[in-house]
Amino acid sequence: MKIAVIGTGYVGLVSGACFADVGIQVTCVDIDQKKIEKLKNGIMPIYEPGLEELVVRNYRSGRLKFSTDLGEAIQGAEVAFIAVGTPPGEDGSADLKYVLAVADEIGRKMTDYIVVATKSTVPVTTGEKVRAAIKAALEKRVADLPFAVASNPEFLKEGAAVEDFLKPDRIVIGVDDERAEQIMQRLYKPFQLSGDRIIYMDIPSAEMTKYAANAMLATKISFMNDIANLCEKVGADANMVRKGIGSDPRIGTKFIYPGVGYGGSCFPKDVKAIIKTARQYGYELKVLQAVEDVNDAQKHVLANKVKAYFGDDLTGLTFAMWGLSFKPNTDDMREAPAGVIIDELRAAGATVKAYDPVAMEEAKAHYIFDKVTYCKDAYDALVDADALLLVTEWSEFRIPSWQAVGKLLKNKVVFDGRNIYDKNYLKSLGFEHYGIGSK
Ligand SMILES: NC(=O)c1ccc[n+]([C@@H]2O[C@H](COP(=O)([O-])OP(=O)(O)OC[C@H]3O[C@@H](n4cnc5c(N)ncnc54)[C@H](O)[C@@H]3O)[C@@H](O)[C@H]2O)c1
Repeated sequence: MKIAVIGTGYVGLVSGACFADVGIQVTCVDIDQKKIEKLKNGIMPIYEPGLEELVVRNYRSGRLKFSTDLGEAIQGAEVAFIAVGTPPGEDGSADLKYVLAVADEIGRKMTDYIVVATKSTVPVTTGEKVRAAIKAALEKRVADLPFAVASNPEFLKEGAAVEDFLKPDRIVIGVDDERAEQIMQRLYKPFQLSGDRIIYMDIPSAEMTKYAANAMLATKISFMNDIANLCEKVGADANMVRKGIGSDPRIGTKFIYPGVGYGGSCFPKDVKAIIKTARQYGYELKVLQAVEDVNDAQKHVLANKVKAYFGDDLTGLTFAMWGLSFKPNTDDMREAPAGVIIDELRAAGATVKAYDPVAMEEAKAHYIFDKVTYCKDAYDALVDADALLLVTEWSEFRIPSWQAVGKLLKNKVVFDGRNIYDKNYLKSLGFEHYGIGSK
């Protein structure tokens, strides 16, 4: 079986490598020539646990190819996945220009029946737009070639993407063509040997499922952050409340950890996009508007705690920041709360020294640039710092040498943006600890 994956980013590269790993011939296509050249030389464009080994092994075996030539990649392919970006446009709606450019190119270059499956997160009706773009391109060529469109939204999590793809909870496939359904069934068979995980549905429902899933997860986070902020005011401890409610299986333990707000390439843009879609249909998604408002405010909570302690004017103060990426195990800096916290501390006159195990190159090159001093390790960031801010809960920050931390910091004060430290233990060591959702 042969397939093409168009767009070789987080989703395209992981999907392509995982499909190749079960024996499928995969060509990953990208318009970014440099990225393709690097991949051919075994250099990963992103940090993702287990990805490098998977890519290199499958590239060497010849099952995984990298190319900038879409036409060649889709020759003989049974499926072409569209996995390009869908960033927010100026009004918050998903910008479909990359998706539709790929659809047009497929229409211009296809030579045989093909299933065009959208993996990118796209609003309802995009399936029809993809179909129309391919049809229009075929008509221009005066070519009457059969094809099918499908929606196959991707649910992998950055930081555990390979594992998620190889062992999916569910595979959602929106399809309205029997031949396409059979092809998708064959393609995904190796990923569900321990039980059927495909949920078939119509294309609009599949498109909506992806947004509803991300919106639900973002809602859990904002809900808990809202409750945590109230806990602080009334003298309750959000960590206790979290345990108390999480033990109810209807609520569950995941995504109810208070923190500094959600970030990343998906939740912020997907919440915005579904709100926009609703408005286009004359409906207000009031819950999700509140989810977004709470999250925007939450990104300021840690800097506000710093100001409450040191005063609004932070001139002459230096803060050590542990963690920059929007979550651990990724170097993805898109919409990372760290950026907002750094801007706010700097605007109040402070200097920031940061350390992140993998995201510093990405931060330096694309997002935070030279707004902070990048440090060689966690302890280096503490030298001459007035306090420590924990922003991303990487494993290596979980049990630091508090003796060393206490010696290096000017004040034994920790602002714990992810509640990973035990307040009482730190207190016993002479530290002041400020977490999220507790006094
Ligand atoms: N990142 C995630 O965790 C995740 C998870 C699920 C779904 N998604 C969705 O998947 C889609 C892709 O996200 P991503 O994070 O992988 O994006 P990304 O920005 O990492 O990668 C997109 C790639 O597409 C390439 N591209 C753009 N136009 C192209 C074209 N015409 N032909 C070939 N390549 C082209 C870009 O050069 C880039 O390498 C988005 O819709 C996103 O919402 C992302």
